[in-house]
Amino acid sequence: MMVTSVAPVNIAVIKYWGKRDEDLILPINDSLSGTLSVDAMCTKTTILASSTLKENIFLLNGKKQSFENPRLLNCLQEIRSRANPGLPQLNWNLSICSENNFPTAAGLASSAAGYACLVHALAALFQIEGDISAIARRGSGSACRSIFGGWVQWCMGSSPTGEDSIARPIAPASHWPEMRVLILVVDDQKKKYSSTTGMQRSVETSKLLEYRATEIVPKKIEAMKEAILMKDFESFARITMEDSNQFHAVCLDTFPPCVYMNDTSHAIVNMVHTYNKFKNSSKVSYAFDAGPNACLYLLDSVVDEIFSVINYVFPPVTSHQADYITGIPITRE
Ligand code: DP6
Repeated sequence: MMVTSVAPVNIAVIKYWGKRDEDLILPINDSLSGTLSVDAMCTKTTILASSTLKENIFLLNGKKQSFENPRLLNCLQEIRSRANPGLPQLNWNLSICSENNFPTAAGLASSAAGYACLVHALAALFQIEGDISAIARRGSGSACRSIFGGWVQWCMGSSPTGEDSIARPIAPASHWPEMRVLILVVDDQKKKYSSTTGMQRSVETSKLLEYRATEIVPKKIEAMKEAILMKDFESFARITMEDSNQFHAVCLDTFPPCVYMNDTSHAIVNMVHTYNKFKNSSKVSYAFDAGPNACLYLLDSVVDEIFSVINYVFPPVTSHQADYITGIPITRE
């Protein structure tokens, strides 16, 4: 029995940073993201289940990985516990083969697409119906948002068991079809410290993080939802940039600090502000995850011009994709 799923990355405009439960992966604030198109940056996972397989196998980009990864095992356990106990495949070994078509672990949301894809494929294999975002969350927090297309909110929830910490779509991609995302690959090497380690350290040491999570993010989430629903790009852009800046301020407020952005990242920030000032309004916005690469959210009408500006100002920066957010996030082959 074999299933294949394809899952896209998502780029948060209100960032998730900090857990209140490490094992269940429960966040300290809501987050909100746009899911990219599957044919741009995605993970493809094929799972073979067979009674003749001698052992469980997990390959990532062709390299053998340990199957004893607690996050992988948590996802598997949750899926199996929801399956009909009579299914024969529950007792078979699995061969999981996963591939990213973009740099893995370079702060380009690879774990989000990876675990969303894995859980989607497992759900197909074990015939699970209903919401699977809480299961994808057990693999990587941000993965729960990649289960849906368009604009997605991950509600932090309040239950200690995590049952209400789920993703929910707030608007389909078709709601704002002019929206585009440009990924500027500044560095495609593996990041110095993972998001998991970085946010753990922030929770332990940053005073700013608590203020952000309790005082700032709840208001920003509401303002962002309104900006998206009203298709108000000016407000959308401002909130996105402010949130990215505050997230990196928290990273610097962490001790020892987590420095994810580099000189090129800061030069991109300056370029965006200079461009917006020249245009007398926010036409482009940036969002940086736990790495130096820039994600620019912009409208279709300015893509060509921004592309020319980037190529003029930053000849060494390669643009990975001129992408768009799509409404069909995950497909089964
Ligand atoms: C900066 O989801 O990768 O991209 O839950 O520990 O796997 P874990 O972390 P992860 O963190 C993503 C952090 C972020 C912001 C975001 O995507 O919201």
